[in-house]
Amino acid sequence: MFIAANWKMNLDKKSINFFIEHLRDYKFSDDVNVCIFPPTIYINFLNELINNLPISIGGQNCHNLSFGAYTGEVSAASLKEFGCEYVILGHSERRIYNKETNQHIQKCAELAIETNLKPIICVGENLSVRENGKAINFIKKQIIECLPEKFEEIIIAYEPIWSIGTGKIPHKTEIKEMHKNIIEIVNSKTKKNVKVLYGGSVNENNIEEILSVNNVCGVLVGGASLKIKDFLAIYSSAVKYLDKIHNIED
Ligand code: PGA
Repeated sequence: MFIAANWKMNLDKKSINFFIEHLRDYKFSDDVNVCIFPPTIYINFLNELINNLPISIGGQNCHNLSFGAYTGEVSAASLKEFGCEYVILGHSERRIYNKETNQHIQKCAELAIETNLKPIICVGENLSVRENGKAINFIKKQIIECLPEKFEEIIIAYEPIWSIGTGKIPHKTEIKEMHKNIIEIVNSKTKKNVKVLYGGSVNENNIEEILSVNNVCGVLVGGASLKIKDFLAIYSSAVKYLDKIHNIED
């Protein structure tokens, strides 16, 4: 189980310190992995703060080329050098505001893999695509065009745009259908391992319901990952949910 905390362009040194201080004595579970995606400028700061805590760090984006005259960009190698294990690629906010295309995202994913970063490729439809019954075809094109040529393992985050930051989440059956389709789409190209996360308005009240859906391997959390209280409520609900499942299985 994986919880990705995407801080986007939020928080500062003081609030990051506060967040991490509250994790010092926290009893983490081996069953739920956490990765925080801070703003790029705070990656090193966060890395030094987390010390021995069982938390990974990731970048919110990387460039599709290794280095060069690209003012304001960040390379996969720099992320790696400063301790990142993961990188989010193709988040809908970057697709919308930075005009990132599937082809660009594919190149970024390939470079990330070459650099030993684990890419999390985001896909998701807007409301009109969903309402017109075209969500699955839309996602299919995004995945086929964004998937790197070669990989051993890939993480896809299904993040319907209409759900991000709105408090609305798809019905369980819609998440189930989409995650099943995503796995089939990846498997139609390669039999390599694929994990699918759900993202969009995840919070402590809906996390259990979301995790109970087949093929949901974790969540990508935006707004509700900014405050330590909300984040820990999500984390502990995920741990409780897994304990419950294990007890039923026993
Ligand atoms: P949200 O954002 O949890 O605030 O909806 C999710 C995301 O954009 O990754």
